[in-house]
Amino acid sequence: MKKIVAVSGSLRTDSYNTNLLNKLSNIFKDEVEYEILDISSVPLFNEDIENDKNKYIDSLKNKIKNSDFVIISTPEYNYSVSGVLKNALDWFSRGENPVFENKDVGILSASPSKF
Ligand SMILES: Cc1cc2nc3c(=O)[nH]c(=O)nc-3n(C[C@H](O)[C@H](O)[C@H](O)COP(=O)(O)O)c2cc1C
Repeated sequence: MKKIVAVSGSLRTDSYNTNLLNKLSNIFKDEVEYEILDISSVPLFNEDIENDKNKYIDSLKNKIKNSDFVIISTPEYNYSVSGVLKNALDWFSRGENPVFENKDVGILSASPSKF
């Protein structure tokens, strides 16, 4: 069975983006393994600590590495992605285990704004 992991760029309880990712699980149902990764406890990236053993970061990276597809849904914050998402992507892009190499990634954004 194909594995899809999803990442929301919003930590808000009633986040439209997280809701969108939750709704996708109804569509995928039993056809794929689907997991929304929890990035709420990813520390602020700092090169001083990037090589420290961090089981939480390693586990998130391994889930992405072992997936067939990654879906990111993020709000637009000031014409960019949210800070929490950027911070997580900075962690995921570093080290001996570069998880996005040859990875198919889809990016969505949900917003109540007409922009
Ligand atoms: C710091 C901040 C910056 C924002 N910047 C934008 C923006 O540039 N464009 C936009 O359409 N909405 C912007 N918004 C509104 C968000 O799209 C809106 O709050 C959205 O609901 C956030 O997504 P969420 O529901 O998944 O938390 C911003 C909101 C915040 C808190």
